[in-house]
Amino acid sequence: MKILAIETSCDDTSVAVLKGGGERALVLASLVASQEKLHARFGGVVPEVASRRHLETIYPLIELALKKGKLAVVKIDAIAVTTNPGLLGSLLVGVSAAKTLGYLWNKPVIGVNHLLGHIYAGWLGGEKVEYPLVSLVTSGGHSEIILTKHTGEYIYVGGTRDDAAGEAFDKVARTLGLGYPGGPAVSKIAQTGKRGKIKLPRPMIDENNFDFSFSGLKTAVTRLNGKPADIAYEFQEAVAELLASKLFAAVEKYRAKTVLIGGGVAANRRLRDEVAGLAEKRKVKLIIPEFKYCTDNAAMIGMAALSRTSSLKGEKYKWYNANVVTD
Ligand code: KG4
Ligand code: ZN
Repeated sequence: MKILAIETSCDDTSVAVLKGGGERALVLASLVASQEKLHARFGGVVPEVASRRHLETIYPLIELALKKGKLAVVKIDAIAVTTNPGLLGSLLVGVSAAKTLGYLWNKPVIGVNHLLGHIYAGWLGGEKVEYPLVSLVTSGGHSEIILTKHTGEYIYVGGTRDDAAGEAFDKVARTLGLGYPGGPAVSKIAQTGKRGKIKLPRPMIDENNFDFSFSGLKTAVTRLNGKPADIAYEFQEAVAELLASKLFAAVEKYRAKTVLIGGGVAANRRLRDEVAGLAEKRKVKLIIPEFKYCTDNAAMIGMAALSRTSSLKGEKYKWYNANVVTD
């Protein structure tokens, strides 16, 4: 099956072309038009500005992705698009584009949950998932632990009680004057930071649950005096330890055979190393998407759609929901 995928949930316009079926796919094209520069001067994403830029970018990007993927419109079997969660105006641009083209080209349109996409980014590397699977989706808007006992089942077992980990990275970057987006900036400066110079708490780490709290950490950073690099170092340590310890507590409880991390914060090297170390120790299979598939991208949305809809080859325009379609 060949699929055109669209993702516009936040500030990146992204279009991908994939070929495959079930749990395997080949990414023929994956384009991301970043709006980073546009929002940088505001220190964060401005929703109205984001949706207007999506509108300007979406159709040229679709054209370019089809060209790069060497895919003629007649060869497309379906269109996948992110439906939720996200910024309403931004989502609307992607969904309208997908529905318009689906209607025009008479192709089925598959709606995909964005968080499901971040989990399915793990399938893009071609590795086989053994169940039970425990996933951590950690991004600018979410930090959630999801249990999957078999394909298509997603049980929320824990998550943040307040801020998402990425949001905390962004706020800390702002406090330290590092600009936007914060995650990459904090982790870059943390490389020159020294261990032991700053001490931050590890909220909720000893509690017997799979939940997180990052807002106290974020506030604690605003009250610190010290070198920005040392603060960034300790903050990154705290977030990586918190996320990994709760993730592996869930791995243990549910006897997971595979552990997966996805979302923008999964691009953080310190977190990747922490999770890799624990996975080796516990002898569980670890899946971490390539860096480019951790942050928002349409390839992961296409992958989620392909895996959740057995075959829509030859089908006509109709709305499908990948989150409930069963094989
Ligand atoms: O998944 P994503 O691209 O968008 C959302 O769905 O939110 O995640 C964006 C978030 C931002 O908060 C960004 O600061 C964070 O991921 N991020 C990182 C890194 N790269 C992106 N956080 C820590 N370390 C990174 N290297
Ligand atoms: Zn995301």
